[in-house]
Amino acid sequence: MITNQTFTMIKPNAVEKGHTGAIIDQIIKGGYKILALKYVWLSRKEAEKFYEIHKERPFFDELVSFMSRSPIVAIALEKENAIEAFREFIGATDPSKAEKGTIRAKYGESVGENAIHGSDSNENAQKEISFFFSGREIYV
Ligand code: RTP
Ligand code: MG
Repeated sequence: MITNQTFTMIKPNAVEKGHTGAIIDQIIKGGYKILALKYVWLSRKEAEKFYEIHKERPFFDELVSFMSRSPIVAIALEKENAIEAFREFIGATDPSKAEKGTIRAKYGESVGENAIHGSDSNENAQKEISFFFSGREIYV
């Protein structure tokens, strides 16, 4: 099982406000290696597919509308213990509860518009990387 990879997306609110460069800089300085990177505008259907696991949740419609309203930046990352390390690195889902200095504390605006995604398991990370990148687009 691959345990040193994770997947992230810089979400629409952060891209719209021009924080893409600062966020990528913070990720690289945090010791993560970029394996693949892509600027994409998800269709509503694609956002629904990506967040399929949340389709029964009350916030699903809001989440899909948000994620497809403007472009995102999709990134595959490598670091030891990547999943857990990156979730701690970006901060809590609710930016008001995220540790000071984390990406969500700095650029998140609400629980919904929380600036960045981080995979929650090794299995989901591999699924999410494959959702956006073909094998030859991943630098290893
Ligand atoms: P993510 O998947 O984006 O990294 O976030 P997460 O694991 O910290 O949170 P998760 O439970 O997986 O929720 C996915 C995304 O759905 C939005 N959300 N909105 N309005 C709400 O109560 C609510 N709860 C979650 C957030 O954008 C969250 O990141
Ligand atoms: Mg999640």
